[in-house]
Amino acid sequence: MGHALLAAATGWLLLLTVSVVVAAEADYPEPAQLPSKPELPDPLVMFNGDRVTTKEQWAEKRRPELKALFQYYMYGFSPAAPEKVTANIDREDRHFFGVKATKKEVTIAFGPPDCPKIHLLLIVPNERKSPAPVFLGMNFCGNHALVKDPTVGLPTAWIYSHNPGVKNNRATEEGRGSQVDVWAIEQSIDRGYAVATFYSGDIDPDRPDVREGIQPYFHKKGEKPGPHDWGTIAAWAWGLQRAVDYLRTAEEIDKDRIAIVGHSRLGKTALLAAAFDERVALAIPLQAGCGGTAPSRGKVGESVKKINEGFPHWFNGTFKEFNDQPDRLPFDQHCLVALMAPRPVLFSNATEDTWANPKGQFEVLQAADPVYRLLGMEGLEAKHMPEPGKLVDSRLGYFIRNGKHSMTREDWKAFLDYADKHLGKASAQK
Ligand code: GCU
Repeated sequence: MGHALLAAATGWLLLLTVSVVVAAEADYPEPAQLPSKPELPDPLVMFNGDRVTTKEQWAEKRRPELKALFQYYMYGFSPAAPEKVTANIDREDRHFFGVKATKKEVTIAFGPPDCPKIHLLLIVPNERKSPAPVFLGMNFCGNHALVKDPTVGLPTAWIYSHNPGVKNNRATEEGRGSQVDVWAIEQSIDRGYAVATFYSGDIDPDRPDVREGIQPYFHKKGEKPGPHDWGTIAAWAWGLQRAVDYLRTAEEIDKDRIAIVGHSRLGKTALLAAAFDERVALAIPLQAGCGGTAPSRGKVGESVKKINEGFPHWFNGTFKEFNDQPDRLPFDQHCLVALMAPRPVLFSNATEDTWANPKGQFEVLQAADPVYRLLGMEGLEAKHMPEPGKLVDSRLGYFIRNGKHSMTREDWKAFLDYADKHLGKASAQK
């Protein structure tokens, strides 16, 4: 869908031009006029009732239609990718994790000059013969929290107050290194993978009542978002795609082996970003739940009404009209997974995280399976949910471990095993 061209590379300054085609805003019925369908809708039936029977119909008709429907009724339409994306290497350390890795901090700019920028932390294994595959994901706490290093920059934007070391909603030195076990970056380096990450608040600090992210810079001055315009999750996903623009030009990264990963609200975002962008090779949404990997029609855990009431800024205005009638949605989250087809997707869960509806998520994968089969690819090989700790590593993959809502070293081990199978073992290419 999109491509990034390296227009100029002078020392540490890269200049990119990017063009990504986004679906045009379509005109669909009001939610109340849509038919109520208590079951997950058939992903291979068009909005007008026509059945999709060929790969071509899927690629040319149904896939674009589903993208437009998701934008119109749920996530909102995002702007086209910017004409110009610039990347500036602010700091570089070739002796990271001892001598195992090189750390770069990269500022990625894409809007008007005063528009917020992405501050990407990129850590790449040194011992390799070819460009490294990469896990890209946003973090909740700031890059400085993910590694023990005195130089990594702190975010300056508003940040969640419950994060370690945060004072008056601003990051402080105290938070440095506090999330080392959450991201377990060294484990990925040891297995031959690079990790690229940035704080989600670089794109949009997660506050319902304040518009301090990138969105106002892409609207006319003073203009309020319309009912079909991007919410925070779509803006975050758009930000991840700008990081993909950059990573595809970085010589140390294999541009065909970019995996997007994210936890919870950032897992919802990871799936959306990857589903809409075929440059992404693999998606790993972790415990993403409602609005991401769990069915909106689900009766367990978080409902559409609850998520819209708790987080009114995450989706577009129109999605709220489904609060009491999610059965009228012309899609469910299996259709978002289907947009990944034939690319691999791993859903990852925890037994005690019922809010994210682990069983409903398994059913979402089952319902996406026919699209993978139509495209000639295995889908979900397991017939039943696996035992905790046992990875289902088919093209539609599933993992559940014992414990609570969190991201852990054990989760990352499953991500790495899954990526080894589907992206090709990185460590074998060292
Ligand atoms: C809340 C919210 C979830 C979300 C989670 C998180 O629990 O209801 O939808 O996934 O926060 O992001 O941690």
